Amino acid sequence: MHLIPRPARLTTTPGVWRLTQATGLVAGAGAGEAAELLRELIGGPAGSKLLPATEPGPDTIRLRVDPQLAEEAYRLSVSAAGVVLTGGRRGLPLAVQTLRQLLPPDIFAGGRPARAEWPVPHVEIEDAPRFGWRGVLLDVARHWYPVEFLHRLVDLAALHKLNRLHLHLTDDQGWRMEIERYPRLTEVGAWRAETMLGHYTEGRYDGIPHGGHYTKRELRGLVAHARARGVTIVPEIDMPGHMRAAIAAYPELGDDPDRALPVATAWGVHEQVLRLSEETLEFCRNVLEEVLEVFPGEWIHLGGDECPTKEWEQSPWTRARVRELGLPGVDALQGWFTARMAAFLAGHGRRLIGWDEIIQGGLPPGAIVMSWQSEQGGVDAARAGHEAVMCPHTPTYFDHYQADPAREPLAIGGLTTLEDVYAYRPVPAGLDDDDAERILGTQAQLWSEYLPTPAHVEYMTFPRLCALAEVAWGTAGEYPEFAARLLGHRERLDHLGVAYRRPVEAEAGR
Ligand code: ACM
Repeated sequence: MHLIPRPARLTTTPGVWRLTQATGLVAGAGAGEAAELLRELIGGPAGSKLLPATEPGPDTIRLRVDPQLAEEAYRLSVSAAGVVLTGGRRGLPLAVQTLRQLLPPDIFAGGRPARAEWPVPHVEIEDAPRFGWRGVLLDVARHWYPVEFLHRLVDLAALHKLNRLHLHLTDDQGWRMEIERYPRLTEVGAWRAETMLGHYTEGRYDGIPHGGHYTKRELRGLVAHARARGVTIVPEIDMPGHMRAAIAAYPELGDDPDRALPVATAWGVHEQVLRLSEETLEFCRNVLEEVLEVFPGEWIHLGGDECPTKEWEQSPWTRARVRELGLPGVDALQGWFTARMAAFLAGHGRRLIGWDEIIQGGLPPGAIVMSWQSEQGGVDAARAGHEAVMCPHTPTYFDHYQADPAREPLAIGGLTTLEDVYAYRPVPAGLDDDDAERILGTQAQLWSEYLPTPAHVEYMTFPRLCALAEVAWGTAGEYPEFAARLLGHRERLDHLGVAYRRPVEAEAGR
């Protein structure tokens, strides 16, 4: 059946059920949103209105929430008695995706329905994810993409039962979220004069301004779209480093208020970081207040990666500030800042999540670590009683090459094949059971320095995200079996027009 991710338990029985124009839908309490999703993803493409029915029967799809089930667990039964989807509190959108994959692949085609009857094999599935954090990050700072593409990425993530879209909304090269209180963040910070061409060391530029941003209204729409599909948007406002775009908009946020610093055009780590004055902290809290209004999820990502201290060391103002705060040195400044921001988020009922550099300053209570430099940050966090998401650059940075660089479009570097991704297991050996419990899951990273278009994002994302999704779901097994299943699954991607890397046959050893 080529299901991806592979369900935890599946048994087939002889027989076929058929979805037709006469099929009805019975939605129990709390299943209304999933019923709408089912009508959109399956009813529409099948040419069936899935009209409400009062009684479950052979010609109905029944949706029910069972609060006894784990949050994202679901059961799917297809038999002569009809179809029944039973989900935990967040399980039904996942069950809908499985039913969708059980239908012929042309259910994924746009346009007029190709059949009058849509067969589904009789099957019993009991399924639940191993990991609660199954994510994908898109860097919309290094390149801006139309909001429609963000909707599509949510759809594609949800198809693979991923449940987090982490949006890297700000960086040195662009600020992408409308903040009403600080309009220059997007008027100035969303635009750079030009973009690097070729590899970083070549120093070549295209001479073409690049920019764009998302309005709060667009982002609220994205949040709602994602929520209906079981996906939480995790916004990232990277601080106190990676802040050149904000400093370009408001120079007083930087070390020298009289310095005119353009939005960065080069990739890499920039030395200019936030000056940690009370006014800057007030700015950060004000920005976050608007972020919290738009993004209702529990987790707010504050970056924290790659914040050089050189500018702070050289700054008389900052050295005086460090003394005034009674800190041992500039090295302690980032930890002090992170603690304040974490307290602010906690005061609003949210949790700080950050890259593993935030460990150095001592983790604030409840903070979650995204371990990217290696798995060590995640291990250290878990052992210190903190939760962690494993995203070591190898194999979860999907901006890395996926095959021989000589035959691939330009990428930042590295090499992470589909098979490498499939072999990944998010819980490192050697963690005891309690610490292992705190490894929430894993996530793919699409840093976009070398991903200028949505099609190129798709090329780098698929099929590797199919593999990561199964790893995160917890049912990854032997690679050849997965690769064979992927050959069937790609028909779905073909109907959806996904610009995935071919040929998959080569990966499958055929
Ligand atoms: C990162 O790659 N700087 C998180």
